Amino acid sequence: MNIQDTIYARRSIRKYEDKPVEEEKLELLLKAAMAAPSGMNIKPWEFVVVTDPEVIGKIRSALMFAKFYAPAAIAVCGNLSVFKNFKASRFWVQDCSAATQNILLAAVGLGLGTVWLGVHPVHVFEKRISGILALPKHVTPLNVIYIGYPAENKPARTQYDPARVHWQAYGESK
Ligand SMILES: Cc1cc2nc3c(=O)[nH]c(=O)nc-3n(C[C@H](O)[C@H](O)[C@H](O)COP(=O)(O)O)c2cc1C
Repeated sequence: MNIQDTIYARRSIRKYEDKPVEEEKLELLLKAAMAAPSGMNIKPWEFVVVTDPEVIGKIRSALMFAKFYAPAAIAVCGNLSVFKNFKASRFWVQDCSAATQNILLAAVGLGLGTVWLGVHPVHVFEKRISGILALPKHVTPLNVIYIGYPAENKPARTQYDPARVHWQAYGESK
């Protein structure tokens, strides 16, 4: 894997071409999502794929920081009913975040741009998105990912900061 062309190249894209995303590519993104690790391999994720412009319009209105056009979206949700005990269920956010990041990275390889739009834990966003997507009570939206062909260029980069790195113990350097 070339880190420069995949991980550093992933940037939040907020301008998309007015061009649909092929269903096969959306399926590849979902396959990437479900290759993610999850606590005890419980895989509490559910995905709602949206390509209907009317529904995307409703999402745009529902989320304060999503006020831009996208031809497709995937809502990454946690299905809390799959957990047999509360302890295990506490990992659902990490599990669904791992799946989300896989989608963002896989999209780069497919020439697609994405942006992660936060939903959970903002209750009003959760409520609105749940209503728009008809989610049952036991399914919570973690985020919505906008997806499309990029109409803006952003440079690949890391945000490496050695001050955030500690060796052997906090505050220790090499
Ligand atoms: C939990 C989370 C929530 C985010 N919510 C939004 C959002 O609502 N709207 C948006 O435009 N970007 C959102 N972003 C994208 C961040 O703004 C973006 O990742 C950050 O500015 C770094 O830029 P980069 O993704 O290009 O590296 C979110 C990212 C994360 C991880």
